[in-house]
Amino acid sequence: MARAKIALIGAGMIGGTLAHIAAREELGDVVLFDIFEGTAKGKALDLAEAAPVFGKDCNLKGTSDYADIAGADVVIITAGFPRKPGMDRSELIGKNLGVIKQVAEGVKEHAPKAFVICITNPLDAMVWAFQKFSGLQPRKVVGMAGVLDSARFRHFLADEFKCSVEDVHASVLGGHGDTMVPLVRYSTVAGVPLPDLIKMKWTTQERIDAIVDRTRNGGGEIVGLLGNGSAFYAPAESAIEMATAYLRDKKRILPCAVRLSGQIAGVRGLYVGAPAMIGARGVEKVMNIRLKADEREMFMKSVAAVEKIIADCQEMEPSLK
Ligand code: APR
Repeated sequence: MARAKIALIGAGMIGGTLAHIAAREELGDVVLFDIFEGTAKGKALDLAEAAPVFGKDCNLKGTSDYADIAGADVVIITAGFPRKPGMDRSELIGKNLGVIKQVAEGVKEHAPKAFVICITNPLDAMVWAFQKFSGLQPRKVVGMAGVLDSARFRHFLADEFKCSVEDVHASVLGGHGDTMVPLVRYSTVAGVPLPDLIKMKWTTQERIDAIVDRTRNGGGEIVGLLGNGSAFYAPAESAIEMATAYLRDKKRILPCAVRLSGQIAGVRGLYVGAPAMIGARGVEKVMNIRLKADEREMFMKSVAAVEKIIADCQEMEPSLK
């Protein structure tokens, strides 16, 4: 069987890391696309020269011509501008909306059957805009945020309990950013929910609250430390997990930004983070979890934040109305 084709739109920090992981995992042939052709070509060649050392077969091509993504099975979008220190995600809207429009046109023309994973921020609005601009089927268009948010939550929990990250499961919902909703009662260590671990005196409510806060601000913490960019290793690993679920029809249930049609709190037509089954048909199912009153309140606050950014997008791009 022919190798899968993975198109990475944006060959910056996340794009380059995605290409590296995809090549090392032998996920498929990789096309790195960037408006700066030299960046895309340089990274593709550098990685192609690394492949004999790590011993994996993969064609890597750098380009700034959308025709080269023709027939891609998976498209991962990181094109755009990352957050600078002190810059809120929503400030990125104007800049990144124009980028997403161009990308949507390129993908619609050359890879309309691809499974598309958007990473560009502000995520929930950008993935919504990409689907609108491109007209691709909503089940083939998702946003990567929840896997990353839950990975951050898992890391902080494993650190708290001094246990393996493999034994920690963390569940998050809602938009990416300060209003994300960590679901504490569905987050577990070896299957034991966090509220029980508090009763067992493994931790305290205060410490869990602090971990939740740190998770919410996880992106900003990295931005502050790096000084001139945003996180890239964990976002790239997270998107690869989603791409792998699609390419290998794994039916993974992962927190992704998906277009809801009433499954959670009756929300429709918006892209928001929810647990979704990813398999060969794209988003095959969204878990219709029932929220408790306080969770619902946090979720609706998050939905309102996403709606606000979408309204700003519609103001800038009337075709999105
Ligand atoms: N088409 C294609 N590529 C573009 C376009 C465009 N219209 N505009 C910008 N780019 C490219 C830039 O040239 C750059 O190489 O997108 C790349 C972005 O890379 P970085 O600046 O290194 O950003 P990165 O850290 O990879 O983050 C990308 O993910 O997490 C989000 O907020 C983050 O939106 C940002 C995105």
